Amino acid sequence: MNAEAIKQDSHIKKVILSEEEIRQKVSETGRLISEKYAGKPLMLVSILKGSFIFLADLCRSLTIPCEIGFMRVSSYYEGTSSSGEINIIMDLDRDVSGYHVIIAEDIIDTGRTLNDIIDRMKKKGPLSVEVITLLDKPERRLVPLKADMSLFEIPDLFVVGYGLDCGERYRNLPYIAEYSE
Ligand code: IMP
Ligand code: MG
Repeated sequence: MNAEAIKQDSHIKKVILSEEEIRQKVSETGRLISEKYAGKPLMLVSILKGSFIFLADLCRSLTIPCEIGFMRVSSYYEGTSSSGEINIIMDLDRDVSGYHVIIAEDIIDTGRTLNDIIDRMKKKGPLSVEVITLLDKPERRLVPLKADMSLFEIPDLFVVGYGLDCGERYRNLPYIAEYSE
């Protein structure tokens, strides 16, 4: 999508995180992960759909080998409010027992989604589990949960772009923007 064209969209209030800010932070995070997991079997697990762009950029910023896994869950069905109900739509197709797993999420809001995913992942018996989130809205937390790595803390706003959607739209924005009804 043309990033300039979409800025004319009346729902896009303002850019919160630019492409450049995201790029810098992702590559810094890639360096940290590469140091920490050098010589270890690593699997990055993307929580679809929201983290697909984050994971694609993050895995290319690593200087160590890694494998990729996907899980798809739904927590938000429509619009901007949480249903509170979590469904595993697609589970991992790999045995994680020989791997250090890093779960990559787009955003932690109430924390319910990730809490559930972490529990399920631990039951699969990986060597370790860490959580990395692109965005964190700590004000909104309903269950106690802290990511091992959080790239950006944001206030209580609904945001779209760089993988995040509103009703399946705006995922292809290259930046993160505030959405308003
Ligand atoms: P939680 O279970 O409330 O933490 O919800 C996490 C999920 O809700 C994320 O993975 C997103 O899919 C969605 N979500 C939460 N906040 C936003 C937002 O501001 N924009 C888009 N999606 C969001
Ligand atoms: Mg998500």
